[in-house]
Amino acid sequence: MELVDAPHSKCGTFGFVGSSPTAPTCLIQAYKRLPIKLIKGRGVWLWDEKGNKYLDAVAGIATCSLGHSNKKLSKVLSKQLKTIQHVSNLYEISEQEELANWLVNNSCADQVFFCNSGAEANEAAIKLARKYGHSKRGFKRPVILSAKSSFHGRTLAAVSATGQPKYHKDFEPLVDGFEFFSFNSSRSVEDLYQKLEQSSAQVSAVIVEPMQGEGGVLPGEKSFFQFLRNFCTERKILLIFDEVQTGMGRTGKLWCYEHLNIEPDVFTIAKGLGGGHAIGALLVKETANIFKPGDHASTFGGNPFACKAAITVAKEIQSQKLLENSTSRGNELRQGLCEIKENYPNHFKEVRGIGLMQGLVIRDESNLTAQTLVEIAIKEGLLIIGAGAKVIRFVPPLIITSNEIKQLLIKLNSSIKSLEN
Ligand SMILES: Cc1ncc(COP(=O)(O)O)c(C=O)c1O
Repeated sequence: MELVDAPHSKCGTFGFVGSSPTAPTCLIQAYKRLPIKLIKGRGVWLWDEKGNKYLDAVAGIATCSLGHSNKKLSKVLSKQLKTIQHVSNLYEISEQEELANWLVNNSCADQVFFCNSGAEANEAAIKLARKYGHSKRGFKRPVILSAKSSFHGRTLAAVSATGQPKYHKDFEPLVDGFEFFSFNSSRSVEDLYQKLEQSSAQVSAVIVEPMQGEGGVLPGEKSFFQFLRNFCTERKILLIFDEVQTGMGRTGKLWCYEHLNIEPDVFTIAKGLGGGHAIGALLVKETANIFKPGDHASTFGGNPFACKAAITVAKEIQSQKLLENSTSRGNELRQGLCEIKENYPNHFKEVRGIGLMQGLVIRDESNLTAQTLVEIAIKEGLLIIGAGAKVIRFVPPLIITSNEIKQLLIKLNSSIKSLEN
């Protein structure tokens, strides 16, 4: 076949409002994209191709923790590109060792496995939970308990672990061996466990987000998580936390589990870890360190470039005191959102979240949806994102300043005001 340059006549046209009607697209339409093309970023600010400027409270969905075009990250990664970018996990990789040391020294974990994304990190955790069931507990068919309204990713096992039927539709049969309890309800966990015991199911692990993200920015309750910890310890069940969205300082502590005064046996991270570069990780305590050579692998996982990005993010979190910033700016954001909620009681009923992961909850009876506000806010130069249909999520870079929080709130206010007109 003769090779041709894009745009290619075989491609259809890009049909969303605001995009050029003639722009060809050879992309599978798996995303419902907003009609702006972002081409440049500095700090918490982004610019589109028309020169419009936006305050970015999405941050690549809780990912660009150091903001855009961070000088330190650019410098370190430019050097890394010229040194070594990728080698196989067939060999020792010093950047992986350095990052793993940092993660272990700054968490409850003892060992780390690197991959490329949140879903992959959860896939690794699910495989680990299955192996734990077989090899440590002698189970034939290990079952994993997961929470309703959870989100664990889009690969088949991760989506099967996700407690939201809308993500399952059209992808059945799902991966077997997941059962669901109501988040923050110890009664629901106990009832489910009893029911499973009667059917002689064998529970090897619980997987849960310490604060649900996609499910609507819902913080875990301390008493529930303390119950879960005891429940799992007493029954030799692995407690797995999905910290893909909450980890790496987003909530004002390095790990969200620190707010709950308990430790998981296993946890997964991604998003903020690489500051915008693809890296994820599975972290385990010694008791759950059961993978042997050949059990799991990833071609790209933990390559020197991605690890160097994460090492830089880790150092910047420390040197720029970004945990403290996340707490203080998070409080300012929360206070501002509470004022907005008070000013528009017909639209909003609650503000919830921790640190720089906050949600503004829309009343069920209001005909406002998160998506409507997301689209209106674009016109005011603000990027925000929904978490489900009725929660607006704010996850700006961890470097956001007080002044930028004020600007965020002003832009949000104008967006809501324009709804009233
Ligand atoms: C809690 C949680 N787990 C897993 C994932 C999946 O991560 P990724 O998109 O990197 O696969 C996400 C993504 O939003 C998430 O929020």
